[in-house]
Amino acid sequence: MASRPTPAAVATWRFGQAAVRAAWPVLRSGGRALDAVEAGARAVEDDPEVDSVGYGGLPNAEGVVELDACIMDGSTLAFGAVAALSGVRNPVSVARHVMEHTPHLMLVGEGAARFALSQGFRRQNLLTAKSRHAYRNRPLRRPSFDGLAVREDWHDTVGVLAIDAEGHLAGACTTSGMPWKLPGRVGDSPLIGCGLYVDDTVGGVVCTGFGEEIMRQTSAAVMIEAMRRGRSPQQACREAAGRMAERCRREGLSAGAGFLALSRDGRVGAYGVHRAYFPYAVIQRGRERVIQASGILPPRAKHVKGGH
Ligand code: GLY
Repeated sequence: MASRPTPAAVATWRFGQAAVRAAWPVLRSGGRALDAVEAGARAVEDDPEVDSVGYGGLPNAEGVVELDACIMDGSTLAFGAVAALSGVRNPVSVARHVMEHTPHLMLVGEGAARFALSQGFRRQNLLTAKSRHAYRNRPLRRPSFDGLAVREDWHDTVGVLAIDAEGHLAGACTTSGMPWKLPGRVGDSPLIGCGLYVDDTVGGVVCTGFGEEIMRQTSAAVMIEAMRRGRSPQQACREAAGRMAERCRREGLSAGAGFLALSRDGRVGAYGVHRAYFPYAVIQRGRERVIQASGILPPRAKHVKGGH
């Protein structure tokens, strides 16, 4: 009989450290990967210093914080998501309620907010003094349709993947999305097969970066299917990054994106479209590390078209 993999959690970006740190006690005590990824995502949602996720996330063009999140259970392919949800601090947990208490996969906008309140979530103002200040001082140009001038350090989604002692996998993904976006804009993060996919028979994959391009390429689906065909997590991430890099070259974009994967036997892979762009956090046997992923294109300039 094949031996079970060691429990592990991985998360996007340097702030993913908070996520893997919160996921670890669940995994160490024999808990479920699903509970671990929810705990990890919530830790970042609750951190007001992370301005691209949850409480303290940067608002849309009208000053409203709109959140996207999803969660997936690799043992059943159960999936839940919310999008353009305002006034609720932990969208990943609302997504879990959608998964567990409705026949649907996704709720959006006011319907999602009403559902959250019906499930006992509290309505809350998600703007902090810092994010209000950033909004007041935002570039005056509203989101345009030919690309956005955004800061490279506005890294966005926290994506968390975990494997538990039973060999089950789960993933979660949560973000406030593109700063100053048009109200109602939804990115890749809550979309199954775009921002996230998890399947116990293969592994889990998660994406972060410029949502419009990730959606166009269904990057999570690209990665999970590459792994299903026998590619390693690293090769799968390289494939998704390569497709994005090719489009950047062709269209003159500088779409920042990072790709992270965890296979069912506990191997980790990661790749950025650009070099020196995408760090990710890993925890295994209680040892926590932040690793800089390889990239394809030269490092990005600070203020670029179409990068987020
Ligand atoms: N990747 C997150 C977003 O574009 O909203």
